[in-house]
Amino acid sequence: MYRLTEKEGIIVKVLGIETSCDETGIALYDSENGLLGHRLYSQIAVHSEYGGVVPELASRDHVRKTLPLIKEVLADTELTTADIDAVAYTSGPGLVGALMVGACIGRSLAYGWGVPAIGVHHMEGHLLAPMLEDNPPEFPFVALLVSGGHTQLVQVDAIGEYTLLGESLDDAAGEAFDKAAKMLDLDYPGGPQIAKLAESGRVDRFKFPRPMVDRPGLDFSFSGLKTFTLNTVARHALENGLPDDQTCADIACAFQEAVVDTLTIKCRRALQQTGFKTLVIAGGVSANTCLRERLEKALAKIGAEVFYARHEFCTDNGAMIAYAGAQRLVAGASADLSLTVQPRWPLDTLPALNEHKAPLAD
Ligand code: KG4
Ligand code: ZN
Repeated sequence: MYRLTEKEGIIVKVLGIETSCDETGIALYDSENGLLGHRLYSQIAVHSEYGGVVPELASRDHVRKTLPLIKEVLADTELTTADIDAVAYTSGPGLVGALMVGACIGRSLAYGWGVPAIGVHHMEGHLLAPMLEDNPPEFPFVALLVSGGHTQLVQVDAIGEYTLLGESLDDAAGEAFDKAAKMLDLDYPGGPQIAKLAESGRVDRFKFPRPMVDRPGLDFSFSGLKTFTLNTVARHALENGLPDDQTCADIACAFQEAVVDTLTIKCRRALQQTGFKTLVIAGGVSANTCLRERLEKALAKIGAEVFYARHEFCTDNGAMIAYAGAQRLVAGASADLSLTVQPRWPLDTLPALNEHKAPLAD
């Protein structure tokens, strides 16, 4: 069932544009044939000397990279702009200037091409990214969204039918990884750096707390772990001088263990609470191998299964935006010409697919 486009075609090929933070992601998703192509440009080199994302620099770089990347994806897929049936761009949550770049370009291209456009919720994109894999999860499921800005457990009954079960009361898991990495003098973004360093760390040298696991409920708190990391480094410096490489690896390992354990305990609890047997993990931290393995082990014990996207689709990318946009466009959603972006946008305020106006054609 497809909706007629403004030029009386059917929505098949959707161009996805992701510019919410420090990655420009472009993809073409075909609602009949799947992902046709995608390209990603990471701004890490631009921001790393500042130790984090500089919003103004991010916006400027998206301006430079978005159109050339679209051209590259079209060349890769041997398609032309005339083949594009609709445009999906991230319209929130994220950095307002960065979002505006993708929204302005995406909406304008759609206007020029006479096709519909839609603003996509970045976290819905993450949440649905595992659907791009060969063995996608089936609804309903519990989703653990773990990125640089979010740590949430969500009951997902269908696309757009989201109930927030719990979330971080302070830092997001990815943010905690990034801050702990800084304390260990590692580069930005810190998650992959901590994960790599932790491989040579000894698991039993330092014991970090598992915040809020003794309390009922599904909320998280990671800011205490950050302080604990800082105190561990400071105490070591006082007693033994600046931490050597092995000590840094041991701290990285203890920190990662604490985050992974805490997330695993809460995911298991969310599955028990909902009675669901499927867990989806999404967002940058879902690329963490230790987290994936720990969840696989823990869930096998309760007859449940964990699903995640391939590594490159865990962090920000255009494919997840093209996919999520395609689902809503086909259901009849589209954005008008008044451009809006939402830097803050709760996921559970999204409409269910059947709340969009009925598709115009079968
Ligand atoms: O989803 P994402 O690309 O951007 C946001 O929407 O925030 O997530 C980025 C976050 C960063 O905090 C980064 O350090 C973390 O994901 N991350 C990881 C790993 N890869 C990325 N954290 C732990 N282990 C990883 N392998
Ligand atoms: Zn993201």
